Amino acid sequence: MRRWLSRCEQDTVAVGREIGAAAAPSGVVLLAGDLGTGKTVLVRGVAEALGIDPAEIQSPSFTLMRSHRGKGGSLLHVDLYRLEPDDVPELGLEEALHGGGVTVVEWGQKLPFAVPGAIRLWLRRGRGEREREIREVGTL
Ligand SMILES: Nc1ncnc2c1ncn2[C@@H]1O[C@H](COP(=O)(O)OP(=O)(O)OP(=O)(O)O)[C@@H](O)[C@H]1O
Ligand SMILES: [Mg+2]
Repeated sequence: MRRWLSRCEQDTVAVGREIGAAAAPSGVVLLAGDLGTGKTVLVRGVAEALGIDPAEIQSPSFTLMRSHRGKGGSLLHVDLYRLEPDDVPELGLEEALHGGGVTVVEWGQKLPFAVPGAIRLWLRRGRGEREREIREVGTL
């Protein structure tokens, strides 16, 4: 299991690039960690790995899902922060995960179904203001 120590936003973007390359062309990445730990920042790196402009990646909390297309593949970016687990079936999320591109889910621990083969990452703050620990885990 991989583990990274990030000292700045760009370090976390670089982890996202590595994860994006590993997940391409159609893998699922589940992210967990408190507010502000850098999940959305990490998704910008995944986008870069797929040839998508990272500036397109915004927190999708109100839309729940956004899709992006790049030269190297497509990305479905999902954020389940505001979601109750009972709502998930209505979103068609299980089908969406098999839509062909890379899928990254923030607050992925809220998914009420298993995703075999997903990359699971847990982010947490470190000692310094900008320090983050990113750990690959078996279960979120
Ligand atoms: N090492 C770091 N890695 C990532 N972000 C960092 C780091 N240091 C400071 N930051 C800042 O922390 C914030 C992370 O915000 P981000 O939106 O990515 O968090 P999030 O985990 O997606 O939160 P939410 O649960 O609200 O979606 C940004 O303001 C970013 O600039
Ligand atoms: Mg976020």
